[in-house]
Formats: sequence, C-alpha cells, structure tokens
Amino acid sequence: MIVNIQCAIFLFIAVKLEKVSVLSGRTAELPCDITPPTLDSLYLVLWYKNNSDFPIYNYRQQEIQRDNQMLLLQQQQQHGQESSAGRIHFQFDSHPALLLLSNVGDPDEGDYRCRVDFGRSPTRNVLVQLTVVVPPQKIRIIEDNRQVSSVIGPYDEGDQLSLNCIVTGGRPRPEVSWWLNDKLVDHTYMATSENVVQNILVIPQLERHHLHAILRCQASNYFGVHNNTVQLDLNLRPLWVLINGAEKPLSVGKSYTFECITGGSRPSVNVRWYLHSIQQPSKERITMDGSNTTSTLKLMPTAKDHDAELICLAINPVLAVRNGSIENNGTISSVETRRKLIVHFAPTAELELGRNLKPDSIAEGNDVYFDCRIRSNPPPLRFLWTHEGQTIRENAAAGVIIVEQSLVIRRVSRSHSGRYSCTAVNTEGSGVSNTVQLRVMFQPVCRPGQKILYGVAKHETVVVQCQTDAIPPAHSHRWAFNTSLSDVEGAAEADGTSVISFSPQSDRDYGSLICWARNVIGEQREPCVYRIFLGVRPDPPSNCSVLNQTAEAVEVWCRPGFDGGHPQLFQFEIFDTQSAVLLYNKSGRYPHLRVGNLESGIKLFIQVSAFNQRGRSPLVPLEAYTIKIADKQTGKNKHFP
Ligand SMILES: *[C@@H]1O[C@H](CO)[C@@H](O)[C@H](O)[C@H]1NC(C)=O
Ligand SMILES: *[C@@H]1O[C@H](CO)[C@@H](O)[C@H](O)[C@H]1NC(C)=O
Ligand SMILES: *[C@@H]1O[C@H](CO)[C@@H](O)[C@H](O)[C@H]1NC(C)=O
Ligand SMILES: *[C@@H]1O[C@H](CO)[C@@H](O)[C@H](O)[C@H]1NC(C)=O
Ligand SMILES: *[C@@H]1O[C@H](CO)[C@@H](O)[C@H](O)[C@H]1NC(C)=O
Ligand SMILES: *[C@@H]1O[C@H](CO)[C@@H](O)[C@H](O)[C@H]1NC(C)=O
Ligand SMILES: *[C@@H]1O[C@H](CO)[C@@H](O)[C@H](O)[C@H]1NC(C)=O
Ligand SMILES: *[C@@H]1O[C@H](CO)[C@@H](O)[C@H](O)[C@H]1NC(C)=O
Ligand SMILES: *[C@@H]1O[C@H](CO)[C@@H](O)[C@H](O)[C@H]1NC(C)=O
Repeated sequence: MIVNIQCAIFLFIAVKLEKVSVLSGRTAELPCDITPPTLDSLYLVLWYKNNSDFPIYNYRQQEIQRDNQMLLLQQQQQHGQESSAGRIHFQFDSHPALLLLSNVGDPDEGDYRCRVDFGRSPTRNVLVQLTVVVPPQKIRIIEDNRQVSSVIGPYDEGDQLSLNCIVTGGRPRPEVSWWLNDKLVDHTYMATSENVVQNILVIPQLERHHLHAILRCQASNYFGVHNNTVQLDLNLRPLWVLINGAEKPLSVGKSYTFECITGGSRPSVNVRWYLHSIQQPSKERITMDGSNTTSTLKLMPTAKDHDAELICLAINPVLAVRNGSIENNGTISSVETRRKLIVHFAPTAELELGRNLKPDSIAEGNDVYFDCRIRSNPPPLRFLWTHEGQTIRENAAAGVIIVEQSLVIRRVSRSHSGRYSCTAVNTEGSGVSNTVQLRVMFQPVCRPGQKILYGVAKHETVVVQCQTDAIPPAHSHRWAFNTSLSDVEGAAEADGTSVISFSPQSDRDYGSLICWARNVIGEQREPCVYRIFLGVRPDPPSNCSVLNQTAEAVEVWCRPGFDGGHPQLFQFEIFDTQSAVLLYNKSGRYPHLRVGNLESGIKLFIQVSAFNQRGRSPLVPLEAYTIKIADKQTGKNKHFP
C-alpha cells in the first residue's frame, strides 16, 4: 500500500499531463514547470514533439558565481530544425514557464514533452497535449436547395417545414443543433463528409404560434458557439367570424345593417356575404392593427328571404389562391357563419277550389269548399271572404261555415255562383287572393222580364221566343199549346233559346204556348207560358216628363205602355203654341226624344202617342218652352215681341 502511494506520487511529479487547446492562428501556450526543487538549480529544458528524438527547442542555464556572490544567469537557447522553428519563444520567467508557439496551424497539433533537468534532482517530464481548434467556417440554412437568411416564408398554416443546417469546417467537429425561440428542439446531427455536418429540422405541421418564431442553428465546438438565425413568416387562416346586428325579426321594406366581424387571418381577409347563394354587395373596413375585419351589409329583406340563411364567409385570399381557386370552400382558407333570417311580411293569399271538387261539375245541392292558401309571417290574425265583392258572413244555419283558412258552403244554390276571394290579415298588412269563379249548375228557369204577350191576327204568323236561365244553357225544348196539350213541332234552337213560329188559324188557336227547356241537370220545373191573343192597339206611354229645357232644345221622357201584343212605335208631334204651327213630327222605337235648333223663348205643345199594327193609342199632351235669352236677335223671337 505504502509503496503504491509513493509510486503514484512519483508518477505525478515525474510525468505531468497537460491539455492545451488553441484557436488556429493564435499563439499556443504550452506550460512546463521549470522551478528547481529547493537547494537545486535548473540545468536544461528540452521540448520534444511526438516522441521524436530530436528536440524542437532547448534551453540551458549556467550558474556562475562572481565575486560579490551575485548570480548571473547565462542562457543558451537553441531551436530545432522543425517548421515551427521561427514561431517558438520560450517564456522561462513566467510561472509556470511557457513555450509560446505563435500562429498555430493544424500541423502543430500533437503531443509535446517538456524535459527539465536539474543540477542534482531527477529529471522532470511534462507532457502537453496540444489541440488546434478551428471554428466552423460557414453555417448555412438551406430551404428547398436554396440558402436562406433573415425571414423565411410565408408558409401556410399546416404546412410542413423542413430546414437543413449545413456547417462547413470546424475542428473538432462541431455539434449542430436547432433552437426554436431559444429552446432546443433538435440536436441530432450527422457528418456528411470530413468537414461537413448537417442537422435537418422538420416541423411536420406549422401552427399559428410559429408566426415570427426565431429558428437558430447553432454550431458549437471547443471555443464557443456560432449560429445563424432565420425568422418564420406564416399565412394564417381566419379563426373566427360572427354576424352582428338586427337580432329581432325583420320587416319587409325596411333597411337593416348587418356586420360581419372576423379575426385571426394573416394577411387580412376578404369578406363575402351570400343570401340565396347570391353574393351581396358590402363594404369592408379593417381595424387599425389589421387583425379584425368588419364588413357591413345593408339589406332590405323581401318575403322570400324569410327562413333564408345569410352567410358571411371570411376568406384568406392568399391561402385561397394558393389552393387554386378563390371559390374554394376549403376549411383551411376560410371560415363562415350563418344566420337564419326571420322576416315579417304581409300575407300573400292564393285561393283554390277544394282539391276534390271538379269546378265544371258542381250542381245545386252539392257541398263546396275553398282553401285560402297563404304565406304569412307572423301567422294571420284573421281571414276575410268575399263573394262578388260582398263580405261573406258565417251562417251555419244557411250552411256557410268559415274554418280558419277554409270556406265551406253546404248545399249550394245558383245564387252562390260568382267570384270568390279571400284576404288574410296579419300585423304587417293584408293580402288579397286571386278570384275563383264558382259556377253552380242548375236546371232551366224562365228568364224574367221577357216578352210573354203576343198579339196576332188569324192567319198571321208570330215568332215566339222561349228564354231561360240555366247552367249550362238549355240544349233542348218542348213546346205545347194549353188547349191541346199535345207537343207543338217546328222549334229552332240557338244559344239555349228556342224560337217557334205560330200562326192561329181559328179561335181555338188563341190560348197559351208553354215551353219546357232542358239541360244536363234536368227539365225546367215551372214552364214558361206565352199568351197568344188577338192583338189590340197599344196603351199610351205613361209618366211623360219634359227635361233639360234650354234656349233651343227640349227633351221628353216617357215610360212605354202595354204594346197590345204587337211591336209598338212612338210618335212625337211638337207645335208652337202661339202659332199652332207643327214644328216637328217624327216617330221612333223609344219613348223619348230630344229636339234641338228651336227658337228661344217660345212655348211648345207636345203630343206623344204609341201605335202598332192594330192602331194608335190616345195622345198624351205635354207643355214645354225654350228658355228666353234677354238680348236675342229680334228676328228670332217674333212670337214674343
Ligand atoms: C504528431 O502526432 C499527431 C497524433 O499523434 C499527429 O496528428 C501529427 O501529425 C504528428 N506530427 C508530426 C510532426 O509527426
Ligand atoms: C449568435 O451569434 C452571434 C454572433 O455570431 C452572437 O452575437 C450571438 O450572441 C449568438 N447568439 C447566441 C444565442 O448564441
Ligand atoms: C377583434 O375582435 C375581438 C372579438 O370581437 C375583440 O375582442 C378584439 O378586441 C378585436 N380587436 C381589435 C383590434 O379590435
Ligand atoms: C363547404 O363545404 C362543405 C363540405 O364540403 C359543405 O357542407 C358546405 O355546404 C360548403 N359551404 C358552402 C358555402 O359552399
Ligand atoms: C386545398 O384544397 C383541397 C381540396 O380541394 C383541400 O383538401 C386542402 O386542404 C386545401 N388546402 C388548403 C391549404 O386550403
Ligand atoms: C188556355 O189559356 C187561355 C189564356 O191563357 C185561357 O183563357 C184558357 O182557358 C186556357 N184553356 C185551357 C183548356 O186551359
Ligand atoms: C209615374 O209617376 C208617378 C208620379 O210621378 C209615380 O208615382 C209612379 O210611380 C210612376 N210610375 C212608374 C211606373 O214609374
Ligand atoms: C241635359 O242635356 C245635356 C246636354 O245635352 C245632357 O248632357 C244632360 O245629360 C241632360 N240631362 C238630363 C237629365 O237628361
Ligand atoms: C204626323 O205624321 C203622321 C204620319 O207620318 C200623320 O199621320 C199625322 O197626321 C201628322 N200629324 C200632323 C199634325 O200633321
């Protein structure tokens, strides 16, 4: 044990190992303790390199004693034949002494031995291992075979990033690592050739937080770190989008403003509005820091916008273009939000005859119903129904029932024919439907007001018309004479009217002609009855009156009297009362007359009568006058001087 310890101490003293590193080109300082042990003196220092037998440098010191006991050191330095010869300097007065080797280069690397001899003590050996350090020459960052610096990108969010850091030169071989915002992210590097080391950094998916990130490639060997940095630029998709404004139901015809706000995009977004898939014109405004974009849309909704979706689409134009199409609905380049519009509008109504009814085959007695189909928001408060412009009132007893948007008429009669419409009313207004014509079929009935008295002399012929009302019109008729009750032949049909020529031959042929019309519904229940009689002269016109008397005209209106069974004409005779001169004498088909071009201020006497082939009625006398004009020419008012 003791021996071992001594041995170790001996070795430590005798062969001391030093390690020295120096940057290439600088001066290496190789230490060697040359201090002699106590009571001894230095004799010789020799420097060897790589176990060579020839020293690269030697140093001798002699101690010469002079009279005043002063020590004089005499030195002798000698250089070897090495290439290093001129670059060596021994600094023996520092502690420890240093062999200075200036402007070191690769060949200087190696093991150096310093041998120190003393006067009496054993020789001392110091081993110095010199490493020449070369800093990396170049740190290049390569992206897609291109060297890059300062800012790279912009990349798209989600892209893969792959950067190669190539370090050339450097000894010992540098360690190459990647740092993201000063955090170590990749320290796997490899040498690709003797003096090239590379480290490939891969970020599989770039994320939003990588925007402006600083990527540093660091190469470190002995004497510190060398680095190269780039900054990352990113295109970011918009993150969020929302629609503001007009939360309450909208009313048709009013103008509303919507705002679409979106943020998170880089560069700033394009905002688009869509309604019914049609792009709407809008105005955009970008906030000062460029992060939010607001687009304003003015909208005047119409009824058809109810329940439609208003879409706001925020598109990062750069991402969209890169993906080939602006219209791309890729989730990466755009975000959208939707708002269902609630629009209040006045109702629109559409009237229809009940689905199961055939409009052309509704007959008296059928049940009929109508549907008022509406579009309304909010729902209608009430419905109004009209028939020929008259409001229909519900009347269950009469079979008229209104249920919500339906109108039911039970057991229709022909009076229910005509035009129907419905109106729906809500808070926004009212809407009137189209009209639907109801046509209720019924069997013929005698048309009121037609000529039923026919005067005719024996052997004369009279043309009798049988006129009926029916839907559809009568298609056939049956005639009979009341005294015989056998059918009468010879009628002609036209437009639902039957015409018969009748000629009484004897007294027995005077009586009643009876006509029954028939259509698809059936035969007339109450026939039309026409009286055939020997004609008489007409009654005089009744209720005659003089109207509109002016300075030169008068008008006469009468009601016709009974025509005596034959067509009658009306005769007007006008006399100047003063002179009894006949001024006018004419007949016509109508019992009224207007006469102009009369003298002003004269009194008139008028006789009206009716006549037919049997004779003339009594005369109806009337008095009238034309208005007198004060300054009329004298020649014209000779009857009233
Ligand atoms: C000395 O040895 C080192 C390695 O031991 C070697 O790299 C160097 O080239 C040698 N130098 C000379 C001059 O032989
Ligand atoms: C990167 O290198 C530069 C000089 O090349 C130095 O100033 C800087 O401090 C280095 N950065 C780091 C983080 O080492
Ligand atoms: C962007 O919009 C968000 C959400 O409305 C808001 O919180 C933020 O303050 C806005 N930024 C700017 C700069 O207006
Ligand atoms: C976007 O695409 C998705 C699915 O591809 C689809 O469901 C959606 O309706 C589209 N939106 C628009 C506005 O086209
Ligand atoms: C591009 O479009 C394709 C489909 O057309 C989609 O799969 C892809 O995610 C899109 N990329 C980007 C960056 O928008
Ligand atoms: C026929 O009608 C006429 C006049 O309407 C009437 O006077 C006569 O009595 C009727 N004859 C019969 C048989 O009904
Ligand atoms: C005829 O005139 C009188 C009096 O002006 C009136 O009372 C009567 O109703 C009229 N008759 C008809 C049929 O118009
Ligand atoms: C009176 O005569 C004028 C002019 O001819 C006419 O326009 C007007 O209708 C007549 N009035 C009456 C009540 O007949
Ligand atoms: C009016 O004319 C009719 C025939 O056209 C005639 O019979 C009548 O006598 C005339 N009246 C007068 C008063 O002349």
